[in-house]
Amino acid sequence: MYREFARKMIITTLLISFVPLSLLGYALYYNFAKAYHERIEQQINSRLRDCAQTLDIFLEERLVILSAIANMSTLEYYKNISHLQSLFQSINQKTGGDLIDLGVINSSGDHLAYIGPYNLKGLNYSQEAWFDQVMVKGVYISDVYMGYRKIPHFIIAVRASKNGTDWILRATIDLDILTRIISTAQMGKTGDAFIINSAGVYQSPSRFDKNKILTDSEIDSSMFGANITVVKRGDGPDKNLVYNGLWIRNGQWLLIVSQNTDEYLLSFSDMANEQLTLFFLAVLGIVITTVIATSISVNTLQSRDKEVAELNAHLIQTDKLAALGKMAAGVAHEINNPLGIISTKAGWMRDLLEEEEFKDSPNLEELISCIDKIEEHVQRAGKITHNMLGFARSMEPVMERIDINALLTKTTEFLNHHAQINNINIRLDYAQSLPEITSDRSQLQQVFLNILNNAIDAIEKEGDVIITTKLEHDTRKAKDKVVVEIKDTGIGIPDHIKKRIFDPFFTTKEKGKGTGLGLSISYRIIEKLGGTISVKSEKNRGSLFSIILPVTLSENDN
Ligand SMILES: Nc1ncnc2c1ncn2[C@@H]1O[C@H](COP(=O)(O)OP(=O)(O)O)[C@@H](O)[C@H]1O
Ligand SMILES: [Mg+2]
Repeated sequence: MYREFARKMIITTLLISFVPLSLLGYALYYNFAKAYHERIEQQINSRLRDCAQTLDIFLEERLVILSAIANMSTLEYYKNISHLQSLFQSINQKTGGDLIDLGVINSSGDHLAYIGPYNLKGLNYSQEAWFDQVMVKGVYISDVYMGYRKIPHFIIAVRASKNGTDWILRATIDLDILTRIISTAQMGKTGDAFIINSAGVYQSPSRFDKNKILTDSEIDSSMFGANITVVKRGDGPDKNLVYNGLWIRNGQWLLIVSQNTDEYLLSFSDMANEQLTLFFLAVLGIVITTVIATSISVNTLQSRDKEVAELNAHLIQTDKLAALGKMAAGVAHEINNPLGIISTKAGWMRDLLEEEEFKDSPNLEELISCIDKIEEHVQRAGKITHNMLGFARSMEPVMERIDINALLTKTTEFLNHHAQINNINIRLDYAQSLPEITSDRSQLQQVFLNILNNAIDAIEKEGDVIITTKLEHDTRKAKDKVVVEIKDTGIGIPDHIKKRIFDPFFTTKEKGKGTGLGLSISYRIIEKLGGTISVKSEKNRGSLFSIILPVTLSENDN
């Protein structure tokens, strides 16, 4: 019952503390994770935006420089190869060597002058799409291509107009420079950045595969809007690979920054694990505290209940004895009168038998033995009523100083003879220097006699009775107590009987042998004297009666 109660209490307490704790933990974790993810995305986005801006500025700058220079002079001037050469040098000086070559093309598409590693002079571009675009729009940036050189590059071209003649200044830009700018957006272990054109073809190498340039990226560029768009790829180990894209050059190229967010989440999961560990430590703490607190309170409850139960049993016993005592007194009294008359009449009859007329009667012997029997049984009945009266009477104890050891020894002397013929050995195991106690000598003696008689009855033939005395200190009441233990090696008391042995008239002995009053009287006496009496017994092994008596009787003992 107590276990069940403790279990319920522990479960309830744990539920009450866990539910809010778990909810709180989950909410904290959820919000934290969300904020963490948002931060990662923001970080990737701002990297993308920065890189796109740099690229835009870079390209715009090249166009502006080219355009400014072209418009400074005339076609006639730049046609001269030495002029073009010095222009090429000064641009490369200013920009750090971006240009691979530089060419001058007239409005009919003829390549009039060329500085660079390939001899492109004399080619005609009038049929090429880019030529029309420059002529119409004024500026042009090509996609990346291999061209004659078999290395990826792209061109930029601007149209200049002077004195009514349009002509074109065209330069090839080294892709390495673009690649270098893009590489600033490649972060961590998994971060990649590259450009694809609107058809999805790589315009720059991937960080992880240089050969991807000019191959199909399989990225559907139409998924990316005007602003940054995040597209998650959801397959296999790349589940958390995030693609962020931003169009540059007014939609000509798409700059993509990709990153596997697992890379960041790894450190996040480290943190999360720490939190989880803390959480479990907290949980463990709660569990331990709950279990300890519960077991303490349940134990307290249990011992309280036990005390109450003992007190109740004691009160019931006392009540029973008191009620029975009154009845016994009444019965004893009623029986004593007729017993008195029977006894007197029997005596009268015995006197009569002395007379002459009966002296010669042949039945004289028979009659005398009948009268003997009557007197003997009246005496026995008288003893019982005497006992009953003793039990009933609330005899005021006569207090004196008693040496318990000496009293016990004296009591055993009454029994020694009977014990010896039955081969019963009474052993004394006294505590030395036992203090004298204040109690009622004859009442205590009656108790010891009752218990010793029971012990001898229980042994019948052959066995030991061991009488032990000791001093005990009751720390709770700060008082000394004397303990008398009477142990026998008799038949023992079965459990179902143990509860009843202190009841008046309860006996297991055959008729005429037991009255069932010994222990109930002893119980009453010991109680009156401020002590307790208890029994421990095991069937067939023997019994142990303990009598605990206060050294001095104080008011609340009674
Ligand atoms: N030492 C003992 N060993 C076994 N049984 C005992 C012992 N003491 C008492 N009893 C049991 O308790 C019963 C009640 O004892 P008691 O009140 O002295 O009455 P009685 O001795 O007249 O039977 C006994 O009949 C016996 O069954
Ligand atoms: Mg008895």
